[in-house]
Amino acid sequence: SPTVAVIVVAAGSGSRLGHAEPKAFVLLHMRPLLDHALDSIFGMNETVQIIVVAPGDRVADARAIAAHAAARYAAPELALSVVAGGRTRQGSVDHGLSALLPSIDVVLVHDAARALTPAALCDKVVAAVRATGHGIIPGLPVVDTIKRVADSGAILGTVDRSELSAVQTPQGFPRAMLVAARTWAAANGRFEALTDDAALVADAGHPVTVIAGHPLAFKITTPEDLERADLLLHAAAP
Ligand code: CTP
Ligand code: MG
Repeated sequence: SPTVAVIVVAAGSGSRLGHAEPKAFVLLHMRPLLDHALDSIFGMNETVQIIVVAPGDRVADARAIAAHAAARYAAPELALSVVAGGRTRQGSVDHGLSALLPSIDVVLVHDAARALTPAALCDKVVAAVRATGHGIIPGLPVVDTIKRVADSGAILGTVDRSELSAVQTPQGFPRAMLVAARTWAAANGRFEALTDDAALVADAGHPVTVIAGHPLAFKITTPEDLERADLLLHAAAP
């Protein structure tokens, strides 16, 4: 049985993308974004449990997409499940965690919206969690100059860019560390303040390390991001 699980959170509405459909079902080169996102996971060297977290009223559709994606890979023993999401991303992660197999000791949490993420990045996160026992998140150096700005528009200061990292997913953790951190956050009323999984785990006092991310792991948030993904796929397969 697999020792690694990937929770693919795909239950968001995609309000900033602005389509009628939830974001995971928006088409990119005639395939739903969720279908692309599953390539990142089925393409891993590691055999993993896959848990897709889908909008509550679209679980059956997500199951069909996942079955279709699985059929492209010769991965017969893969555990694949689809569960309904929550109101917030954290709620969706919780629903995903409830489906973990007993054999799992490393958990990756991945945004379906990062639909072009290379499978190799997912394998790298698993390897780094195993090597360090830490939480591991991919990140890229920030290339823009970043200012702190007041509501008035006045510049308050320039942030030291060398200290900054734009973080991505998949974020990987030893299972026990992630579960303990979430229990701690719930008990201490920290859930609302902490948006990503790494912040939760670090807040609970556990080590989290950044490794090199990948440009293709960018998140499709706006129509411009979807356009960029479209152009990148055209470049890859004209
Ligand atoms: N997500 C989720 N459950 C939620 C909210 C978000 O599973 N209740 C997932 C999204 O499906 C997405 C990932 O978390 O894959 C990152 O969130 P984001 O890019 O913000 O997606 P949405 O919340 O769908 O988009 P928006 O914020 O524009 O509405
Ligand atoms: Mg959101």
